[in-house]
Amino acid sequence: MQRIVVFESIHEAGLTRLAQHFDVSVALRSSRSVVLDQVKDAVAIVVRSVTQVDADLMNQAPHLRVIGRAGTGTDNIDLVAAKERGIQVITIPEGNAVAVAEMAVMEMLMLRRNLLAVIEAGHRLDFRRELYQGRELASSTVGILGVGRIGQLVAARLAAFGCRIVGFDVNAKLKPRFDALGIHWCERLDELLEQSDILTVHVPKTAQTLHCIGAKELQQLPAGALVINSSRGGIVEEDALLKSVESGHIAGAAIDVLEEEPPFDTPPEQVNFSHPLLNHPKIIVTPHFGASTDEAQEKIAMALAKKIIKKFQPQAVGV
Ligand code: MLT
Repeated sequence: MQRIVVFESIHEAGLTRLAQHFDVSVALRSSRSVVLDQVKDAVAIVVRSVTQVDADLMNQAPHLRVIGRAGTGTDNIDLVAAKERGIQVITIPEGNAVAVAEMAVMEMLMLRRNLLAVIEAGHRLDFRRELYQGRELASSTVGILGVGRIGQLVAARLAAFGCRIVGFDVNAKLKPRFDALGIHWCERLDELLEQSDILTVHVPKTAQTLHCIGAKELQQLPAGALVINSSRGGIVEEDALLKSVESGHIAGAAIDVLEEEPPFDTPPEQVNFSHPLLNHPKIIVTPHFGASTDEAQEKIAMALAKKIIKKFQPQAVGV
């Protein structure tokens, strides 16, 4: 039987499906040397965003034909090296879009209503509600940076809140989608920033987008603006964000992704991780969990399993 190694956790349903057709090894939390050893006889590997799939790994894997990415982003995969070696990279971009869009809207509401501080105050028996008076989404202009699959779902959900929506995307072909979703088209990033009471970021990590929201861009947002990044760590420059929040220009932020991420599968007593954005009263930091819903994980794992089976055993799909 052909061997598949799964290096990061995926939904059980997908593992079961794969195991009907392949010899599946699950090697979570593997050290780099174990990863390099495990790939030696694998025809496919399954990863999420943590495992670095670089040329060195591919060189150790002479039989590798598929890199299955259980999700969207491919910034941890050397796509050029994969192409040179004829290795197919399979992603499931449709699987997590709803989960991430819902999370972005949830964070807008949380930040607008100071919910992080209110919950913490309640734990201290501080119920002085006048201290935590918030604002409504309905009176806000929300700026969406990156109006692809997830950005569009965010806009569709925001329509129900009655807020003004502005968007910026480098892909001019998306203009009709903006119109259909009631998103005001911004020609330039600074046009988006100047208007956004809430900025939500939904672009992939590339050389062009890395640190694209830095000190200058944060300063272009209106005073008291909120920033949400649930795309990739480093698109919003972390030091600049901290400084802007500390100066009071940015009123709060929700960051699901860090440039250097904490270990996602280690019990807290064993974690040795610190980050300046952690434990800040105005910043919500979550563990890159935008896609962490039962629905998204099951959808992603099943769709990925199906595509991998189709690649190696096309006659078996539909079975
Ligand atoms: C993705 O790109 O799909 C998400 O970042 C979620 C994940 O880590 O798999």
